[in-house]
Amino acid sequence: MERYGIKDYDELLQRGRDDPEWFWDELARELEWFQPYKKVLKWDPPHAEWFVEGKFNIVHNALDRHVGSWRKNKVAYIWEGELGQVKKLTYHDLYRKVNQMANALRGLGVGRGDRVAIYLPMILELPIAMLACAKIGAVHSVVFSGFWAKAFRERANDAQVKVAITVDGFYRRGKVIPLKENVDQVLDDIPSLEKLIVVRHAECPVEMKTGRDLWWDDVTQGQETVSPTEVMDAEDPLFILYTSGTTGKPKGVLHVHGGYAVGIYTTLKLVFDLKDEDIWWCAADIGWITGHSYIVYAPLLMGATSVMYEGAPDYPEADRLWQIIEEYGVNVFYTAPTTIRLFMKYGEKWPQKHDLTSLRILGSVGEPINPEAWIWYHKHIGNRQCPIMDTWWQTETGMHLITPLPITSLKPGSTVKPFPTIQADVVDDEGKSVREGGGHLVIKTPWPAMFRTLYQDPERYVDAYWSKFPRMYLSGDVARVDEEGYFWIQGREDDVLNVAGHRISTAEVESALVSYDSVAEAAVVGKPDPVKGEEICSFIILKEDFKPSPRMKHHLREHVRQEIGPVASPACVNFVKDLPKTRSGKIMRRVIKAKVKGDDVGDISTLANPEAVDELDNAV
Ligand code: WTA
Repeated sequence: MERYGIKDYDELLQRGRDDPEWFWDELARELEWFQPYKKVLKWDPPHAEWFVEGKFNIVHNALDRHVGSWRKNKVAYIWEGELGQVKKLTYHDLYRKVNQMANALRGLGVGRGDRVAIYLPMILELPIAMLACAKIGAVHSVVFSGFWAKAFRERANDAQVKVAITVDGFYRRGKVIPLKENVDQVLDDIPSLEKLIVVRHAECPVEMKTGRDLWWDDVTQGQETVSPTEVMDAEDPLFILYTSGTTGKPKGVLHVHGGYAVGIYTTLKLVFDLKDEDIWWCAADIGWITGHSYIVYAPLLMGATSVMYEGAPDYPEADRLWQIIEEYGVNVFYTAPTTIRLFMKYGEKWPQKHDLTSLRILGSVGEPINPEAWIWYHKHIGNRQCPIMDTWWQTETGMHLITPLPITSLKPGSTVKPFPTIQADVVDDEGKSVREGGGHLVIKTPWPAMFRTLYQDPERYVDAYWSKFPRMYLSGDVARVDEEGYFWIQGREDDVLNVAGHRISTAEVESALVSYDSVAEAAVVGKPDPVKGEEICSFIILKEDFKPSPRMKHHLREHVRQEIGPVASPACVNFVKDLPKTRSGKIMRRVIKAKVKGDDVGDISTLANPEAVDELDNAV
């Protein structure tokens, strides 16, 4: 700000609003371009092109350029396994490993534009595989390792992947999760798949299919440690990441090399004020956007040192996170409200056992943080000294959009104001700004890390996000703006649940439930939970000849685990004979939700079967 003669936060916001292209141009110049862009932005709503005609590769900026600088021997990742093993990779180590994998992939015939599915847990091969794909211009599609085989199959088929990368198994709470064995069940149903690369990690037994399955070590061994970085167009695709929408079919959110890099680099730098000597820890999973942007790409673009942890946050004891912060002297720490609430439950005696004075800034992401949790985090983790950056953003936005900066006055529970250049608003059903009460959270300006489309579904991109209000991006969240212009995010307004920070679509869980033999109909709603924010609550109508029983509940939960993954397994299963429906036969989730929360059900005059509401009472 000094450099530009900007005196305070308000002036920074003003300058950004007045001239967004100036702002982004200045930051984009901090990265290296193979060929300079001719124009910062071409905006033809709802389609944006950023850094038009620029030639760029995110990996050149995340790795190659550091290896030619003093950062060559700086540690990029400090990795800690759940069992306590530690590995450190410098920029040079990472560069060599990525190059070997890039050469291996090229050797398997993977090239520009080809899709590669990456189904790995939090081990170093995950960022290595992502960077190797990006380096050769291939498009990665990471599938969260907490999803199960069928969810993997659906995503791999949608993206028509040529190669997939997985692991023998990984550790979670001391147990080995056999990922390869799990994915074996569906590999024959992915016709586009040619090769499967398997990382050896947990050393659990696996079956390797000749001709298709290859060990990571075998394909990388002996490969050269240099590899050319593909010259990409700034607008070329970098990755697809599937996220839940309002229908059962996940959306393939597509991000590109140039704008995405500039957006996440800038936000990490300004929101978390990351310095070269800092130790950064974003305690998310790389399988979600938070990990893509702020564990993999942005910290590497900045040349930072990051901590990466494999396992559960409270394993083997409730101070694992605090122990890691002390051990590595973490300066900036970023986590989710659900984690904070979990540790509030364990109590402050756990963080008190550790020296957390290295911390300078804290962050929160993924769901609204309640003021109690904010204050606990501030007091017991931040020692009343660290500002908390409560960052609002989404898979689609790629980068933080509504967030404080370390120079902003904070209010516990508010995500403060839009990032410089971003115009966010809360509008009513007609698209008019509202200041009283809540409304639809929309974004009125394009931003560099915005998703460019939904993979192979350009119409859904327009319909789902840009058609309700012309020239406004519809976030799907409800929010309120106070008299000082501070934003308060209230949660999703669509049929998407937020369970411990994971986005799960009610339709996806419902379709998994009805795919079970005995189920005739299913409705799923979110039930408030003090730790997870929401938990999944399901209402089931069984087919005739089937009887409700505890065993049946167990089978249904197991079935959803198998179909989608443990994250989607319903916490409660209620059997009912009827569900409230409109005359056109649509299940009224609003009514079910009100019952679950103990609220008034409101107007039910449009219901075809009001008696179903009483039945819910018995079930709840
Ligand atoms: C919610 C995660 C309140 C919101 C980065 C959004 C938040 C959804 C916050 C996106 C926050 C994210 N305060 N709510 N600071 N951050 N959300 O795509 O409902 O997994 O729409 O991206 O999480 O979830 P996603």
